Amino acid sequence: MKKFLAIVLAAIMICVSFVACSSKTDDKSNNDSQQATLTLATNAEFPPYEYKEGDEVIGIDAEVAKAIADKLGMKLEIVDTKFDSIIPGVQSGKYDMGMAGMTVTPEREESVAFSDSYATGIQSIIVKEDSDIKSVDDLSSSSKIGVQLGTTGDIYAKDDFGADAVAEMDKGADAVQALIAGKVDCVIIDNEPAKAFVKANEGLKILDTAYAQEDYAICFAKDNTELKDKVNAALKELIADGTVQKIVDKYINAE
Ligand code: ARG
Repeated sequence: MKKFLAIVLAAIMICVSFVACSSKTDDKSNNDSQQATLTLATNAEFPPYEYKEGDEVIGIDAEVAKAIADKLGMKLEIVDTKFDSIIPGVQSGKYDMGMAGMTVTPEREESVAFSDSYATGIQSIIVKEDSDIKSVDDLSSSSKIGVQLGTTGDIYAKDDFGADAVAEMDKGADAVQALIAGKVDCVIIDNEPAKAFVKANEGLKILDTAYAQEDYAICFAKDNTELKDKVNAALKELIADGTVQKIVDKYINAE
């Protein structure tokens, strides 16, 4: 009888440890805490929303995401990937959510679900200080326009001026380098990164005429309504208590 009990007990213990090891939580967080992991995909080439300081991804999105994860009692894991890999990765469940200064568009809403918006952006045009391009009206199908691949700047520029006018680069910073090297006539990119790039490089300016106004939000797999609802609730509190504004001020207004 004792022996039988021992075998049953052993069997139960094996089952229990098996279940524990195969649960998502334990797979992803190899630390003592039992917190579930919230895996966030971003593209850390987009100051001040996300950029790298050493190996660490910092910026507005990184800090807002951390505040959301804290509220949900989850451990945030940030994965830095190419911008145009974020939505496919979120769709396939590789990442729980995507946050990358990402604009809500009707086309993207066909692939993913978006949270409430937490920030707004404007597509701006960067030119060399002595450029003949004075406004968006000076752009045409014979312009050479630098953009970051897969961004709304890329999509709008192709729509308005044709694919031949648009040079797609992996990073916004590469497009800016192409502008400095005279390989493109302008760069279309979101206004805050535009400001950061102009500040970091001599001889560039941003045109006064903005190109398009947009809303940033966090994206989720369409069927992950549970997480989206939880994140929206957390975001609402963080906006209401001023946390989001404080983070924005730290990176933008307080310069
Ligand atoms: N707002 C633009 C878009 O959604 C650009 C975002 C680029 N973000 C980034 N982290 N590189 O397409």
